[in-house]
Amino acid sequence: MSNASDSEHITSSGHKLSAGGHLNLHYLALRDEYDATLRAAGIRSGWSVLDAGAGNGVFLPLMAELLGPEGHIEACDLARENLEAIEGLIASERLACPIRARTGNILALPYETGTFDAVWSANVVQYLSDVELTQAIAEFRRVVKPGGLVAVKEVDISVWQYQPQDPKLMWRLLDALSDDVQMSGAMRGTRVSAWFRAAGLENVSAITTLAERRQPLTSVEREYIRNNLEFLSGLARTRDLTEADHRQWKAIGEEPERLIGDPDFCYREMWVLSLGIVPRS
Ligand SMILES: C[S@@+](CC[C@H](N)C(=O)[O-])C[C@H]1O[C@@H](n2cnc3c(N)ncnc32)[C@H](O)[C@@H]1O
Repeated sequence: MSNASDSEHITSSGHKLSAGGHLNLHYLALRDEYDATLRAAGIRSGWSVLDAGAGNGVFLPLMAELLGPEGHIEACDLARENLEAIEGLIASERLACPIRARTGNILALPYETGTFDAVWSANVVQYLSDVELTQAIAEFRRVVKPGGLVAVKEVDISVWQYQPQDPKLMWRLLDALSDDVQMSGAMRGTRVSAWFRAAGLENVSAITTLAERRQPLTSVEREYIRNNLEFLSGLARTRDLTEADHRQWKAIGEEPERLIGDPDFCYREMWVLSLGIVPRS
């Protein structure tokens, strides 16, 4: 078992589950569904796209392929080490379009109004409060040209399941985490479209993906799921739960393989891609 801070996979700017190693595992474990979500956003060849909160850049190679040599990507993020990973990717890979990386906060984006054909932001707005989410969507709308696209992919952990573990164990933990901004934000994916409408975006739509993994799991899937269970077990230690629940989370954290190795093990994760168009006038 890892210690509490290792299991949080935290960045230098303080965001949990955002360190490069975990982002790679998350992407590789769910790659087919992740790539399908990016393809479904409707990004077109030749566009200029902002990847807002790009992390270590897992979506950039496919995004570059979709944009082609006439396209262009700006990638911004708060965490220095994630930006360094993107710079490494740009230096080492033959990417299909030019990419530039810089530090930037999605609450005050360092770009001129109407710069991009689209903004893509994946797994970032979960870290924001409701008020900050309003600010971020306003920023996305501001930096996109009239008629351009805002695409936000966000998890909804109300469907996070590790069966045959009783899902109510997770629900009780999530309930005990109600005052945690990140965990509450991670339960908001289904409702991000309401923020799009409030920001005046048009043609608002949403595409939901349920990713499920059963036996036999690949080694990457196992490692990704093990990280999640250790993270949740660490969170449970900090919360007011019954002794029985504390015992179960402790056992899961100490021996995640007992649950992951069950022949009927089933992992479920759900996310929503919210789409909207910036009005022309
Ligand atoms: C879970 S990672 C997701 C990274 C990438 N988009 C992906 O899907 O793999 C969240 C990223 O958002 C960044 N982040 C969090 N809050 C941010 C903010 N206000 N502005 C810019 N980046 C932010 C973190 O530094 C981290 O790299």
